[in-house]
Amino acid sequence: MFAARQVFAQSQRRCFSASVRQASKVTVLGAAGGIGQPLSLLLKLNPRVTELSLYDVRLAPGVAADIGHINTKSKVTGHEPTASGLKEALTGAEIVLIPAGVPRKPGMTRDDLFNTNASIVRTLATACAEHAPEANLLIISNPVNSTVPICAEVFKAKGVYNPKRLFGVTTLDVVRASRFISEIKGTDPANENITVIGGHSGATIVPLLSQSGYSLTGEKLDNYVYRVQFGGDEVVKAKDGAGSATLSMAMAGARFAESLLKASQGQKGVIEPTFVDSPLYKDRGVDFFATNVELGPNGVEKIHPVGKITDHEQKLLDVCVEDLAKNISKGVEWIKANP
Ligand code: NAI
Repeated sequence: MFAARQVFAQSQRRCFSASVRQASKVTVLGAAGGIGQPLSLLLKLNPRVTELSLYDVRLAPGVAADIGHINTKSKVTGHEPTASGLKEALTGAEIVLIPAGVPRKPGMTRDDLFNTNASIVRTLATACAEHAPEANLLIISNPVNSTVPICAEVFKAKGVYNPKRLFGVTTLDVVRASRFISEIKGTDPANENITVIGGHSGATIVPLLSQSGYSLTGEKLDNYVYRVQFGGDEVVKAKDGAGSATLSMAMAGARFAESLLKASQGQKGVIEPTFVDSPLYKDRGVDFFATNVELGPNGVEKIHPVGKITDHEQKLLDVCVEDLAKNISKGVEWIKANP
């Protein structure tokens, strides 16, 4: 027992020293928002982050001053929309997270946010393509199914698109799917890791319970799938006009950033479902798709296939692919019309 503890402590020390050896600047664009603030806080607590760069159109220096008092090693800087603000925020970044944009109000779908968030994301993606073209770009701003393709088009137009470095963050769907099954089965949610594929909106979110050995049926299965697909609505409704998921999203975004940092610092076998440029359904007009993705020093290391699924999951997947094709082409059409 003691020996085991000692080995664990040594491996922890090794992890820590490996993490502090490498400089990892992480930038948050939209850092003063409902997601941005707790996300920045969690990143400040991550020893793998050596510099935390916070940008927003309002309040970023204040958030940076506040978080900067926390006694962990990373340096924190705040940046405003001055002539050089975005450039300074982005230069040298290894990871850029974008939670900038407006959230939903009750009754809204993620697609209702399209017009406002599409232009915000276009502006920020353009700055990333100019000042941090090699960073891993993590898109949180909704509708993710359309904002990710918009980013890809911006990067292509600038001649710097690297499909291995662009990620739509769908981690919250995995977090919810894992939490919700644990509530049904009475298991420890921390030990659950339900694979969720497709996209990040309603019917495009497809949880694959069967791959974790679960087989709910009938109403129980329908209710579970609905809750995973529309879990965000529970939060929007409960917040009653004051926004959507922020704290659970911050946790999910920080988890995904941590996975990328682990992978870039040499850890093998780091796998997260994420919405990436994927070959799996290109023949059905879907250029981006979330499945399990192995991460590595170059970003996407290996895109896993969907794998074995049930007939019910296949039906969900067919609906998903049809919706996704529309969401993706909406983003591409928009950026072509509004370059
Ligand atoms: P919020 O309104 O609280 O914060 C957004 C922040 O973005 C604000 O501080 C605002 O000043 C900033 N901002 C706006 N335009 C900007 C620009 N051009 N440059 C830099 N910053 C800018 O919204 P919240 O709740 O933080 O949500 C942000 C986005 O995340 C929304 O689009 C929401 O739908 C999405 N979201 C995504 C989830 C996911 O799973 N991917 C889950 C939950 C929300």
